[in-house]
Amino acid sequence: MGSEKQEFIWLSGLLFLNILVLSTADVHYYEFFLKESQFTKLCSTKSILTVNGSFPGPEIRVRRGDTVFVNVHNQGNHAVSLKWEGVKGSIDGSNELIQPGRNFTYKIELKDEIGTLWWHATSDWAAATVHGAFVISPATNEDYPFPAPTSDQTIILGQWFRQELTEGDKTIAPGRADAYTINGDPGVTYGCSNDTTFEMQVDYEGLYLVRVINAVANETMVFGVASHSLTIVGQNGAYTKRSFTNSLTLAPAQVVDVLLCANVNVGHYYITARPSSGTYITNGILRYLTTSS
Ligand SMILES: *[C@@H]1O[C@H](CO)[C@@H](O)[C@H](O)[C@H]1NC(C)=O
Ligand SMILES: *[C@@H]1O[C@H](CO)[C@@H](O)[C@H](O)[C@H]1NC(C)=O
Ligand SMILES: *[C@@H]1O[C@H](CO)[C@@H](O)[C@H](O)[C@H]1NC(C)=O
Ligand SMILES: *[C@@H]1O[C@H](CO)[C@@H](O)[C@H](O)[C@H]1NC(C)=O
Repeated sequence: MGSEKQEFIWLSGLLFLNILVLSTADVHYYEFFLKESQFTKLCSTKSILTVNGSFPGPEIRVRRGDTVFVNVHNQGNHAVSLKWEGVKGSIDGSNELIQPGRNFTYKIELKDEIGTLWWHATSDWAAATVHGAFVISPATNEDYPFPAPTSDQTIILGQWFRQELTEGDKTIAPGRADAYTINGDPGVTYGCSNDTTFEMQVDYEGLYLVRVINAVANETMVFGVASHSLTIVGQNGAYTKRSFTNSLTLAPAQVVDVLLCANVNVGHYYITARPSSGTYITNGILRYLTTSS
């Protein structure tokens, strides 16, 4: 009896939530321009396919239950299709191959996804550089099921190949990466002093929702922040039971949302990302901006 009653309360709570979500759902329009851009990393310059010239690509930021139209203009030289990783709602055109010179509008109707998803090109050569975060915040009248973060930070773990992944009409299946990147930055461990290092700035006692996306094809990645423990709160677009850890192990395409509390001695700390097999390590920096009182 008791549990039936509880279930009823829980179910009506869910219904109520659904109605709220429906009543506040929003529609967003994004324009993506796929184009070749020159990038210099590991002390050499090459052309890569990007969305709007950025690597990683632009972030989509919406709320739970929203609808998103993404008009993708292919100004590159090869047909490309995009995949919306982790979307449970309906997608118009999920297998659409967009030819060079053409455009196509994906319509994504989110359901109850919450937290972080991501998007990427479907073919390996293009996915190496054509990808970005898909952030889904709580609906306007919905709270986080954990202390509200001061702000959030997306971290995309990626890879970099020295070789060009296209050659005239041909595309080349990439082999093993020459470097791993944090939000596009390889950092200083690959021996090129011109490479940039990712930096996340925090205020003392701030609480940060860090969205870690493993965009590295085929590699399990290990992520951590020196001297800071991480509280896992979400995964692949859903909240999870909270758990504490010192480092995250992310399968290819996996996304983990963690809370990071900036309550260690003011200073700067290494952020690290490395493939679980192999010897490379990529560093970023967590930098405290304010002093403790
Ligand atoms: C991409 O670039 C176009 C043209 O400059 C701009 O209108 C559009 O807003 C950009 N899209 C994103 C997601 O930044
Ligand atoms: C590093 O950057 C400087 C200034 O942009 C440039 O002159 C130099 O050639 C670069 N070095 C390498 C090895 O790419
Ligand atoms: C292509 O882009 C134009 C202009 O932005 C838009 O009106 C049209 O609907 C798009 N076509 C497709 C198939 O998405
Ligand atoms: C991933 O693995 C597949 C199958 O082994 C291979 O064809 C592809 O080139 C790999 N992709 C990357 C980016 O390493």
